[in-house]
This record gives sequence, structure tokens and C-alpha cells, in this order.
Amino acid sequence: MRADPAAHERSREAVHRPEPPGRVTPRLVVEHVSKDYRSRRGGRRLTRAVDDVSFVIEPGASVALVGASGSGKSTLAKLITGSERPTRGRVRFGETAVERLHGAGLRRLHGQVQFVFQDPYGALNPVHTIAYSLSRPCVNYLGLPHSEAERRAEELMERVGLSPARQFAEKLPHQLSGGQRQRVVIARALASDPVLLVADEPVSMLDVSLRAGILKLLAGLRRDRGLSLLYITHDLLSARVLTDEVLVMQSGRIVERGPTKQVLQHPSDAYTVKLLDALPNPAALGAIQPGAAPGAG
Ligand SMILES: Nc1ncnc2c1ncn2[C@@H]1O[C@H](COP(=O)(O)OP(=O)(O)OP(=O)(O)O)[C@@H](O)[C@H]1O
Ligand SMILES: [Mg+2]
Repeated sequence: MRADPAAHERSREAVHRPEPPGRVTPRLVVEHVSKDYRSRRGGRRLTRAVDDVSFVIEPGASVALVGASGSGKSTLAKLITGSERPTRGRVRFGETAVERLHGAGLRRLHGQVQFVFQDPYGALNPVHTIAYSLSRPCVNYLGLPHSEAERRAEELMERVGLSPARQFAEKLPHQLSGGQRQRVVIARALASDPVLLVADEPVSMLDVSLRAGILKLLAGLRRDRGLSLLYITHDLLSARVLTDEVLVMQSGRIVERGPTKQVLQHPSDAYTVKLLDALPNPAALGAIQPGAAPGAG
């Protein structure tokens, strides 16, 4: 992650992680991206939700995006996953111009870039069984025949800790707990075997007791599958656990960026200092070790 993608090209410090065999992960490049919305109350007023943001996510990197409510984090996530178009600027995933995609092109992108949104309650179709919700993207994105897609759906359930899978396959979303549902949402995001996961506050709706399990799951996926991660959160403690680099957002702009540990221990921007001061126990930032999140949701 660098402020200026061109400067980044020249940088010798770029982190190169080994690719799992057979996988080539494109780099995500966000260049001078802005997004203006018409005011929700109508009229001509525009809200600049994202304001001239640039950064790069290297293959296998894990980047936190933190900031107060309304700072533009979800809007940025939508621009990266192609569900919104920037007013200005470009989003490149490898050679692909994300802002120009629609239809089949967007579906192809979503084979590689997947997202987990905040709300595990609204994210699943209430009339589809878990097996159906998970096997359908295997058919759509990977072109698997039905029987293989069902087998893969079971593997996905096991991978996210819904085990034994047979016990969950025929259930409907309302028959699961919030933590189990969020595991299904993550499993569904993994169905297409993506290389980049954009997770927008994936644990914020969950009971505290369930959060650690989901965070541990994400940390494991990063480690075992080399997944790149953009992790959006208000929670600096979980950013410390899950990510190597951090972007701090305020009023649509990136106001601070750098290695997560360094930024959280020695913030240079006044806003980051404020975010840290709001923590009940800032000292814990130094104490937590990556991957140490215990428990299961
Ligand atoms: N579809 C929209 N139409 C109009 N304004 C919008 C729209 N989506 C977002 N905004 C505005 O853009 C700004 C950024 O919103 P966004 O949802 O990106 O913030 P956020 O950082 O994700 O906040 P939170 O932490 O509460 O989820 C806010 O002022 C919001 O009201
Ligand atoms: Mg948001």
C-alpha cells in the first residue's frame, strides 16, 4: 500500500509474498478516486463521500480501513467491488478497469474479488437453504456441475467451522445463530475462490463472544490461502490482529497510512490519536499478537 501508485512501481520495498501454485493474484490499484452523491434529501447539494483516495493492495496483503461513521469506508468498498462507480479516478484490478465493468465483466470480477458486508441478517436469501446459497455461486462462478457444487458447498461449510456440514446444509438462515450466519456469508464469499476479500465490518453486528471466532477464521484464510484482505472496521484492536497495514479515513480522505503496528503505537495524525483515545484500553494494542484471537463463533 503506497500513497502514489507510480512511486510504488519504483519502490524497492514492495512486499512480495509467495503465490500458492497456479494462482496469480492481481494487484489492486486505487488512483485518485472520488465519489459524490446527491444529497439524500434531494436538491442539488452533493456529498463527497470519497475524496481523492489512492492506494495499492499487493497480492496477499492485509489492509485495514478504519475511520469514524460516515467517513466513506463503505463507499470506498463499493467502488472497489464495482457496485458503485467513481465520480473521478480509476480502480484497477490487474489489467481490469473496475469502474467500466457491468454485466458479465462484473461477474468475472466477482470470481476474483468478493465482499462480505456488515449485516449477516440481510445478506442471505431467507427462503434458500444454506446448501443452496453456497452451491449456487460454485455453479455460477466456477461452472461446476450440480453434484460437484454440492460437494464444494459442504467443503466450504467445514472450512468456516460449520461442522458437520450435513447438519447445516438443509437449514434456512433464520435457523442459525448470528455467528453461524456470518460464517455462511463468508463461506459464500469464498465459493468463487476469490483472491481478494473486501470485508466491511464483518463482525460489528455480532455479539462480542462471537467476534473472535470470525476474526480467527479470517486470519486463517489469509494464512492458508494467501487471500488478500481489505478489512473495514471501527475496531482498532481487531485491525491490529488481522492486518499488516492500515489506512485511516476521515471525511472521505485518507489522513494517515502505514504499518498497522506502527500507526497504532505511534500515530502521527491528530484524528488517529483521537480514534486511539476513544479505545477503552489502548494499552491492549501493544499486547495483542497477530492470530491470537481465541474462541469460535
Ligand atoms: N447512496 C448514497 N446516497 C447519498 N449519500 C450517501 C450514499 N451512500 C453514502 N452516502 C453518504 O456518504 C458518506 C459516507 O458514507 P459511508 O457509508 O461510506 O460511510 P462509512 O464510513 O461506511 O460509515 P459507517 O462507519 O457508519 O458504516 C456519508 O455522509 C453518507 O451519508
Ligand atoms: Mg460503512
